[in-house]
Amino acid sequence: MEQDMQSLKDFDVGRGVRPVTGVPLVHLPGSVRASGLDKDARWGLSRTPKRLPAKYFYDARGSLLFEHICATPEYYPTRTESALLERHACGILDQVAPGTLVEIGSGSSVKTNHFFVACERAGRCVRYQPFDVCDEALRAAAARLKRRYSWLEMELLVGDYAVDLPALPHSRGPRLFLFLGGTIGNLSHDEALSFLSALRATMHVEDYLLLGFDRIKDKHILDAAYNDARGYTAQFNMNLLRVLNTRLGADFDERQFMHVAFFNEDEGQIEMHLKARRAHAVTLARIGLVASFARDETILTEISRKFTPAGMRALLEAAGFGWCRHEESDNGYFSLVLAAPV
Ligand code: SAH
Ligand code: TRP
Repeated sequence: MEQDMQSLKDFDVGRGVRPVTGVPLVHLPGSVRASGLDKDARWGLSRTPKRLPAKYFYDARGSLLFEHICATPEYYPTRTESALLERHACGILDQVAPGTLVEIGSGSSVKTNHFFVACERAGRCVRYQPFDVCDEALRAAAARLKRRYSWLEMELLVGDYAVDLPALPHSRGPRLFLFLGGTIGNLSHDEALSFLSALRATMHVEDYLLLGFDRIKDKHILDAAYNDARGYTAQFNMNLLRVLNTRLGADFDERQFMHVAFFNEDEGQIEMHLKARRAHAVTLARIGLVASFARDETILTEISRKFTPAGMRALLEAAGFGWCRHEESDNGYFSLVLAAPV
């Protein structure tokens, strides 16, 4: 743990933000990561119950903590989805014959490797457009990919998938859009519907979308996945307070909060909160806001909805997609769904 934390300290401003030679980086209009933070923090911390948008988790440190979460034994989604991709990447490439892979919320792009390996085996050449709110994560991933796949042509897109889908630059088709990691579950039903509809509107008839859905399962397994014993998820959650301290001159004290995450069976979703250990007030100097916390008051920081096959299908159909292919893990923990515009 000590050593892991050292590596987090090393992932410092400046280190991950160097440009990657020969790889263009495009800032989409929503890319100013902090652009909405003033408004979102004021809105989210003045209402009851308090809440903050999850996109602010992902500064350089947050993205690295997320990679640590993915490697914990409790967090089954990454390895389950990775195994599915390893098994089916070739078949999916044969079915889609993509000219470009556009990955939304690409993060470290680690699982996407299975597609590049499959391309090499089949003698295919694709372009790769990873799209993420975190430019440090994009650059770190691009540097790794360029070392391993020298043939891979990339264009890095920094932006916010809630607003920037209409601004995606064109690329060689057919395009295979990837939205992996169960990230669709981090959107409410209405947000997911508008996200998918906006994506559908940018797609051409020959394009496809591959989605990773985390499935409803035993509550204990879900609770453990968001409460790893090594505490990375707790640190990731707390990182939001650091982001507010740095960007908004706030004086959040992490010791006054605890990480709380649980599966809400009625709603079919993980809910993640930061819970005040005692009554206190926090000042956000840069926006002139004082946020008062009662003891045990929470900030909702993330939801992660879990799906049934019927729920996945209904969501896709409501957004104008047809269901082309479904691959699920043997234990039914995770699904990959290939969909296309109808
Ligand atoms: N696809 C990766 C990462 C999933 S975590 C995986 O499956 O492991 C979610 C990713 O989405 C992070 O990389 C985060 O930086 C990115 N992200 C979160 N909110 C976003 C937003 N509003 N716009 C663009 N990217 C976002
Ligand atoms: N898409 C991931 C998920 O819902 C994001 C995630 C995993 C996450 N662990 C987290 C977000 C912990 C916040 C906190 O599983």
